[in-house]
Amino acid sequence: MVNSCVSLVLLLFTLLLGHGFFRLEASQNICRNIHTSQQTCSAQPYRTSYHFQPPMNWMNAPMIYKGIYHFFYQYNPQAAVWDISIVWAHSTSTDLINWTPHDPAIYPSQPSDINGCWSGSATILPGGEPAILYTGCSSKNTQVQNLVVPKNSSDPYLLEWVKSAENPLMEPPENVDPSSFRDPSTAWLGPDGTWRVVIGSKFQDKGLVFLYRSKDFVNWTRAEQPLHSVEGTGIWECPDFFPVSTDSLIGIDTSKTGPNIKHVIKASLFDTQFDCYIIGTYDVTTDKFIPEAGSIDKVSGLRYDYGQFYASKTFFDSANNRRILWAWIKESSSEADDIKKGWSGLQAIPRSLWLDKSGKQLVQWPIAEVERQRGHQVDWPSKLLEEGSVLEVTGITAAQADVEISFEIIGSEKAEVLYSSWTNPQLLCSQLGASVKGAIGPFGLLVLASKDFQEYTAVFFRIFKYQNKYAVLMCSDQSRSSLHTGNDKTTYGAFLDVDPVHEKLSLRSLTDHSIVESFGAGGKACITARVYPTLAIDEAAHLYAFNYGTEKVKITSLSAWSMKQARINEIIQQEDRWIPKERDV
Ligand SMILES: *[C@@H]1O[C@H](CO)[C@@H](O)[C@H](O)[C@H]1NC(C)=O
Ligand SMILES: *[C@@H]1O[C@H](CO)[C@@H](O)[C@H](O)[C@H]1NC(C)=O
Repeated sequence: MVNSCVSLVLLLFTLLLGHGFFRLEASQNICRNIHTSQQTCSAQPYRTSYHFQPPMNWMNAPMIYKGIYHFFYQYNPQAAVWDISIVWAHSTSTDLINWTPHDPAIYPSQPSDINGCWSGSATILPGGEPAILYTGCSSKNTQVQNLVVPKNSSDPYLLEWVKSAENPLMEPPENVDPSSFRDPSTAWLGPDGTWRVVIGSKFQDKGLVFLYRSKDFVNWTRAEQPLHSVEGTGIWECPDFFPVSTDSLIGIDTSKTGPNIKHVIKASLFDTQFDCYIIGTYDVTTDKFIPEAGSIDKVSGLRYDYGQFYASKTFFDSANNRRILWAWIKESSSEADDIKKGWSGLQAIPRSLWLDKSGKQLVQWPIAEVERQRGHQVDWPSKLLEEGSVLEVTGITAAQADVEISFEIIGSEKAEVLYSSWTNPQLLCSQLGASVKGAIGPFGLLVLASKDFQEYTAVFFRIFKYQNKYAVLMCSDQSRSSLHTGNDKTTYGAFLDVDPVHEKLSLRSLTDHSIVESFGAGGKACITARVYPTLAIDEAAHLYAFNYGTEKVKITSLSAWSMKQARINEIIQQEDRWIPKERDV
């Protein structure tokens, strides 16, 4: 993740000057998660409340160490030299929702990273100590891989890090573009005592991950064959490679191999900004990865999320035996708007991730900790949604909410036919938006809606007949999300692998002012949208359930919650110590 982040850094800088990122003033107490005293809350309607959102962030390494979660992200502390001084900012947490900031962990200091410390990943070594491999931009403007280790591993906060004297440990192979060699993954240890790691790269237009091996984590040798490559996909950023259990929902350590395990390769495709993955089998003795189905693909590959979701990383949470996926969500607003609001980008809510029982795809669900942010709850008894009905969910803060709804379809024989040429769900959702009447659907939720429906974001389903079965389309339609014209209002879509007649058709949406993260059928398809309403702001935002199909659908359950504000990087300086500031929520 390199040049693409640079413009964001520049924007943020105007705000940070003279204030210091980590300093807050008392008057900010009422503002949402904002780190400057220059702007009032009302000038910041799009700032989120329970999503991690520093002034600038770009995914680096999440991990857990001695029971503390660490998050490192790209940050620029020096406006004047913004393009050559990206550092690793550092925050810690005990619940992955509330975060405390620390001083930057890694900053440019050696010839191997003097032009920037870019993305990388943490690996927990067998003794329990972490090591981080990261990309440095060298004095020759070449992308190289470096190592840092904690100065004092007894300190659970890992405040200080020491660079290896051997840096750089990996340099671009011959014939590889020196500016296309980056983002080391978390390493894994084979039963042969050899470490492996993958690095994102490309050869001409073929996206790939190089495989490196090492006995000592310092001396790395490139394997002859990349672990995986796909023609026509461009550079792969932030590659991830990890095992998933085939017979249990629990997460497993990155180095685990053996029976009842499949492996996942994820690549962030720079060209499309999609996080694509494939599932396959991995033989650690030959270092061969054999994909089982599909491919990493610009058009039809499996994606973690079919909306805005990029540069994600997973890590194994050894304290809770789960694999956690975390991603960077960029803006869908114009650069001019980003400058005006003074920040850009945030983190999705961390998600647990596991292999679906079909074995064909992954399933994701917001970590349970986010449920602690739930406040006032509203429940509906089951009710029918007649054709054309729009029912308001009242009694919660719709701008900052969590809602779970389940549907039962009625009259499935009335479903329209899905033609076999209709293979692109995003295209289908754009053509068949929320205001296009169907038979079974569109039905779902209108979030961040204004009272007069001039603005709303529609997250909904449509059911089709398809080859003696049913096809379920899940859409997030942003076309009416804002009266403001300068945003990217692309409609997103995904097919949901669920039998709508025999299985529960559920939808969960986490709304936080300018982000809507939606999970279909318990997390089989996820769509994240950024939206910037001009009317449906704060108290003026409303939430509705709707059905615009000709057939009735039944809501079997609905629960919605107001979400409390999280404490994210809020710190006041006191006697030279950084103390987290308490607040009422
Ligand atoms: C290392 O960290 C531990 C725990 O925070 C602390 O007690 C100890 O004094 C530190 N050691 C050094 C050399 O700083
Ligand atoms: C690094 O590892 C390679 C392959 O195992 C070996 O041939 C080489 O001698 C090692 N170099 C050093 C400096 O240890």
